[in-house]
Amino acid sequence: MDCFEIVGKNHLEGNIVVSGAKNAVLPIMAASILNNSPLKIKNVPTLSDSKTMAAILESMGSKVSFSNDDIINIDNSGLNIPFASYDLVRTMRASFYVLGPLLAKFKQAKVSLPGGCAWGPRPVDFHINAFEQLGVKIDLENGYVVADASNIKGGKIHFPKISVGATGNVLMLAVLADGVTVITNAAAEPEIQQLCQMLNNMGADISGVGTNTLTIKGVTSLKNLEEISIIPDRIEAGTFMIATAAVGGKVILENVNPLHLKEVTKQLTNVGITVIEKSNIIEVHSEGNNIKFSNIETNEYPGFPTDLQAQWMLLMCLANGDSTLKENIYFDRFTHILELNRLGCKISLEGSLAKIKGNRNLIGANVMSTDIRASAALIIAALCAEGKTSISRVYHIDRGYDKIEEKLTKLGAQIIRKK
Ligand code: EPZ
Repeated sequence: MDCFEIVGKNHLEGNIVVSGAKNAVLPIMAASILNNSPLKIKNVPTLSDSKTMAAILESMGSKVSFSNDDIINIDNSGLNIPFASYDLVRTMRASFYVLGPLLAKFKQAKVSLPGGCAWGPRPVDFHINAFEQLGVKIDLENGYVVADASNIKGGKIHFPKISVGATGNVLMLAVLADGVTVITNAAAEPEIQQLCQMLNNMGADISGVGTNTLTIKGVTSLKNLEEISIIPDRIEAGTFMIATAAVGGKVILENVNPLHLKEVTKQLTNVGITVIEKSNIIEVHSEGNNIKFSNIETNEYPGFPTDLQAQWMLLMCLANGDSTLKENIYFDRFTHILELNRLGCKISLEGSLAKIKGNRNLIGANVMSTDIRASAALIIAALCAEGKTSISRVYHIDRGYDKIEEKLTKLGAQIIRKK
């Protein structure tokens, strides 16, 4: 298994181009099931997760090819097996997104329940309850969802907690359901907004895009789409913004949408970091010291993203005072704390409130990645630590970051991947 070796204390200077959003390309690849002619998806990040989704589509009869560095060509005209196996689905929770479009297209599907994630169980009860509210008959058989959507009609759906995946999954069924579906407490994340825009470009009738109430007027059929370009990855961008704030330097991020990063920019500015927003560029300037402490919490969009919680936690270890960080999306997304503490952080947990000691001097050590964003926090910590850090299990980071070591090296970091 690959590991990263990082020598810390180098400031970051220069420009990087942010890749397309992992959490947009996955639902859009699933939605391509509804497209019956070749679709070109541009600005796709090179990630193992997009390859996993491609494998799932191919297992159902789809033709998928990757061209250039960031284009996926998908032809689902021959897709005729509404079945997604445990072997594939267990490796990536987002595979469960295929259920909605398979039901919309074939009126039946058999999809494995996803496995838990590294930081704990991640249920899909919201997805299943919502499908049943639209009239889908669902049986659970040997770890599979066996679903029949021959008698579906629009309805009212209220999610008890905002769910990105459940909102996307239900949307992809509701667009072809007879009648009107209203989803309240829907996700408004930019990735869901792009999914709505894609479906509307295919002839769907979704209103309320970008709000927490979506109204979907079912249509009898959709048009084929030829091409779509993935929005920039706000979490990759936020990761590099926090890395620059922590280790110091001046970094220009290209191909970003500053609107998607308003809360991150606000919080970085609040702790004394200079953030300059231009049309599709964000500049971050930091001395890497004199970072103010803060007490923030994660929330659904447009709040502070949970996918930057681990990275922010590390930044607060370097602040000039003690901080707190409340995680409101997942009760147990804290596997990174033990590993960060091995590097010299002093973080404790009370329920889902992290208490973070500031003014920490980090010393390089051997640490282990536990999930995509925990890995990112460990990389940033290693960039700030005295001496060398070795990070194992970097396959986690390869799921969510496109060429991260190349981008960091270009900015002056000392990072190498060792087999
Ligand atoms: C998406 O996951 C993202 N993944 C996650 O990013 C992100 O952390 C999460 O949204 C929250 O923003 C992708 O888009 C591929 P949820 P998702 O359904 O859809 C609970 C990353 O690092 N819940 O919005 O799986 C759930 O346990 C990944 O890029 C239920 O209880 O998340 C959580 O507490 C990690 N039952 C909350 O809702 C359900 O049926 C939000 O989860 C569904 C969710």
